[in-house]
Amino acid sequence: MSRTLLVTTALPYANGPLHLGHILEGVLADIWVRYQRTRGADCLFLCADDAHGTAIMLKARELGLEPTALIDEVRREHQEDFRSFEIDFDHYHTTHSEENRRLVETCYARLREGGYLRRRSIIQSYDEDLGLFLPDRYIRGRCPRCGAEGQYGDSCEVCGSSYEAGELLDPVSVLTGRPPGRRASEHLFVDLESLAEPLRAFVHGGAVPQAVAHKLDEWLMGRLNDWDITRDAPYFGFPVPGETDKYFYVWLDAPLGYLATLRAWAGAERAEEIFARYWHPDSDAEIHHVIGKDIIYFHALFWPALLTVAGWRLPTRLTTHGFLTVQGVKMSKSRGTFVTARDAAAAVGAEAFRYYFASRARGGIEDLDLDPEQLVARTNSDLVGKIVNIAARSVPFLETDDGHPRTAGTCAAPELYARILAGGEEVADAYERQDFASAVQSILTLADETNTFIAQRQPWVLRQDPARRDEARAIATLGISVYRLLALYLGPVLPGLRARSEAFLGVPLDRWSAPPPLLNHRLNPYRPLLERLPRQAAQGLFPNRGPARG
Ligand code: 2FM
Ligand code: ZN
Repeated sequence: MSRTLLVTTALPYANGPLHLGHILEGVLADIWVRYQRTRGADCLFLCADDAHGTAIMLKARELGLEPTALIDEVRREHQEDFRSFEIDFDHYHTTHSEENRRLVETCYARLREGGYLRRRSIIQSYDEDLGLFLPDRYIRGRCPRCGAEGQYGDSCEVCGSSYEAGELLDPVSVLTGRPPGRRASEHLFVDLESLAEPLRAFVHGGAVPQAVAHKLDEWLMGRLNDWDITRDAPYFGFPVPGETDKYFYVWLDAPLGYLATLRAWAGAERAEEIFARYWHPDSDAEIHHVIGKDIIYFHALFWPALLTVAGWRLPTRLTTHGFLTVQGVKMSKSRGTFVTARDAAAAVGAEAFRYYFASRARGGIEDLDLDPEQLVARTNSDLVGKIVNIAARSVPFLETDDGHPRTAGTCAAPELYARILAGGEEVADAYERQDFASAVQSILTLADETNTFIAQRQPWVLRQDPARRDEARAIATLGISVYRLLALYLGPVLPGLRARSEAFLGVPLDRWSAPPPLLNHRLNPYRPLLERLPRQAAQGLFPNRGPARG
């Protein structure tokens, strides 16, 4: 029976350009989606911009724009960037949409009716000059535990402790540089403790990686704090019905954006039916949220809490990945290692990144390191030098008068071909586990074996002897047949190469299959399927990079 899947990536904030970390996540999800589709799964792939919150409001002010103008512009850019990396969502929506507003209001009504809401007054930092309550990240001061300077209002990067913004010593507003005041205001909270049972069941039910489940236990074993779901005006978000100057916190409406995007994709007429297909408690569809480990807390606690109250089913899996580092260190603007998606695409191109990310991603929460020299070397030595080379070196033996190379009626080394077919199963298993590094490694091993075979049999020597010319053609026929399989196996990682290979080979490569060798087959004229990258491409990636590590 074929699988029905819904895959999402985290919704990027609409306050700035995408960076390589977003692209890493998009690529990992896109590879898996494409693989599932080659296996015949009905797989929907959705994303949207996360358009609300203080940061977006302030960014719009800074640019002299209405927030809606900013988020429209940013969404267009985000979509272009994802597309340029061949990250191909079925729909890209925004959380600032009518579909989402209705979902938020539905959930709010269910929270109220279910008795999950608490109302109480809290005291927060307030920027008197701007007339604005300050989120923790907008306050800096000395750590109340270790005294380190310049720490944020929620936690210390030096000693790692967490605290309340009010505890910070000598705090200042990041926006004005002046000490904030303290003000009281009423907020609405979700009583998470009353949902502790379903949350524990979710976290230990296989939806999150083991290592992450243990981490979450630190919260789940104690009493769960109430979750503050409101923010005071001025704020860019959805107003809370029946309240004055209150807005829903961005992290309430952000994950509901997954559902809003599904409804928008379905269109008004089919919205109910499609929504039920995925989110009804009895649905047998699988729902996979691909996220970074920094937002696991929101997805493993708040999100299932909301879904439970709303009466919808829970996600099948939170596919959690680590951060992207550059030569072992977190990407950073000051080190010159922060790269926007756009600059990365211009410097090196999408295929090199897709292949590099795949070759390093093992499906776990470990960080993935970007080494620019390796990025270039992998494309040149693996992709061009080993894989595409199999096609390139075979074509000259198959030339015909009409310019269309033609494979022979026999294929050399049927047992080698059979091994490449069998190797496809290993590759498939690795894709399924999202261990793309193993998938790529297996494909390379198969390529190596084929190249070694061709080198040993020396078709260029055989061709000199008219009596052995057919042997040379049979070897080249093996080469083309194997290349077809490798292009199929690599297709989820490199859809562009797959398409160019389809055009050259004249066969579709969109279904996982185990075809016989391509015999007596007319190919299309060969044009290089992939170009080498110049060595300087790596430096172009970080024109402002300071000294590496240390
Ligand atoms: O951390 C972030 O970038 C958030 N914008 C992710 C939101 S994911 C989902 F919940 F919307
Ligand atoms: Zn500290």
